[in-house]
Amino acid sequence: MTPSDVKATLSFSDGSPEMQLPIYKGSVGPDVIDIRKLYAQTGKFTYDPGFLSTASCASSITYIDGDKGELLYRGYPIEQLAQNCDYMETCYLLLNGELPNVAERAAFTRLVTRHTMVNEQMQFFLRGFRRDAHPMAIMTGLVGALSAFYHDSTDINNPTHREISAIRLIAKMPTLVAMAYKYTTGQPYLYPQNNLSYASNFMRMMFATPCEEYEPNDVLVRAMDRIFILHADHEQNASTSTVRLCGSSGTNPFAAIAAGVACLWGPAHGGANEAALNMLEEVQKMGGVDKIGEFIKQVKDKNSGIKLMGFGHRVYKNYDPRAKLMRETCHEVLDSLGLHDDPLFKLAMTLEKIALEDEYFVSRKLYPNVDFYSGIVQRAIGIPVPLFTAIFALARTVGWIAQLNEMIGDPEYKIGRPRQLFTGATARTVVPIAKRG
Ligand code: ACO
Repeated sequence: MTPSDVKATLSFSDGSPEMQLPIYKGSVGPDVIDIRKLYAQTGKFTYDPGFLSTASCASSITYIDGDKGELLYRGYPIEQLAQNCDYMETCYLLLNGELPNVAERAAFTRLVTRHTMVNEQMQFFLRGFRRDAHPMAIMTGLVGALSAFYHDSTDINNPTHREISAIRLIAKMPTLVAMAYKYTTGQPYLYPQNNLSYASNFMRMMFATPCEEYEPNDVLVRAMDRIFILHADHEQNASTSTVRLCGSSGTNPFAAIAAGVACLWGPAHGGANEAALNMLEEVQKMGGVDKIGEFIKQVKDKNSGIKLMGFGHRVYKNYDPRAKLMRETCHEVLDSLGLHDDPLFKLAMTLEKIALEDEYFVSRKLYPNVDFYSGIVQRAIGIPVPLFTAIFALARTVGWIAQLNEMIGDPEYKIGRPRQLFTGATARTVVPIAKRG
């Protein structure tokens, strides 16, 4: 961290002595005020629920400029990565800091490919779930359970264990997501096929059966790979911060990533793509395009509790750059499948247009986020709606691991332990039950 020449001075109106706080500069983005000595020197905490102004760590992996609508992985704009690289290169970049050359990419891909199978015993574990279980419930369990199957890579403080668990997680997530899907449909699981690319292998495990091969269409495979690239990392979002906090206790990497999966499930985070599609289906039931006006009225009414899912973002107050790329992919996929006239897709496109012109959304800088389009693309590919968030988890696993490993390797890392502003009862005496009113 580079110290700034500027210092912050904190003064108090109750006559307590003022305090000088150091400021650090990042390579780009806002400076940070170092408050680590605040409590020791003043007996006070800072208060920032929701982390609106708090940097929880220093990181060199992903940078977002929400006002510009810019997203960089290790300095490379997401647009360039989406157009020139595949997901395996993106994984290598996030984990190692540099893009691979031809030999490095081949070696990395081979390594991932060699770990795609999961322990055969895991299918019996999976059988314990109800067939109608939500795929994210299954994924939370399966990812956590990896720590029970791969004992030789559970020591988070051992760099070799961290490396092996990273490769295992990236390699096995597609197999687990496809198994979760096949289980809910009652079809047999398919083993991974290692001569296929990461995305085509996943699609084959999803859509082929032992009786019928799946012929992947190039446009759809590219779309799936792009979904993976665009969701690979997003700096200190809720699930990544969960992974860091969970991992900071020294728990094993599989358990920390399972915590990330659980957090991602929520509709304000990764669950938004599923929620966006469910919302479109609801509007469709209400009467479709003709009812959009009525629906938008409900969204604008604060008492309705209805949000336009797939719109808005904590950090992007401009167009989400991933949404732009996903929108492009969305049109390619709809063209390739001849689905432009599908009523649900027509509805989505009309809703997008109306919201982008509406004063409520314009004044609040609410733009479609990546989930709005990724849900449409996934539905067009044939992925069932409840599986969307599991695919997001698959793609984000590499980001979670890169961030977790960065934290463990940081000499300043400590167990995460937020403090609180206590507003409950002060110390009081227990009254014996017979005497309580
Ligand atoms: N629909 C309607 N109004 C919205 C929406 C929305 N989707 N998003 C924000 N607003 C309104 C808020 O009500 C608020 O209005 P006000 O100023 O009149 O009170 C204003 O816009 C600011 O919104 P906040 O809630 O303060 O924004 P915050 O940063 O806390 O929330 C969030 C961001 C959670 C993403 C929110 O926009 C949302 O719930 N969106 C829908 C869910 C979604 O798509 N999530 C995906 C996030 S991206 C991802 O995880 C990949």
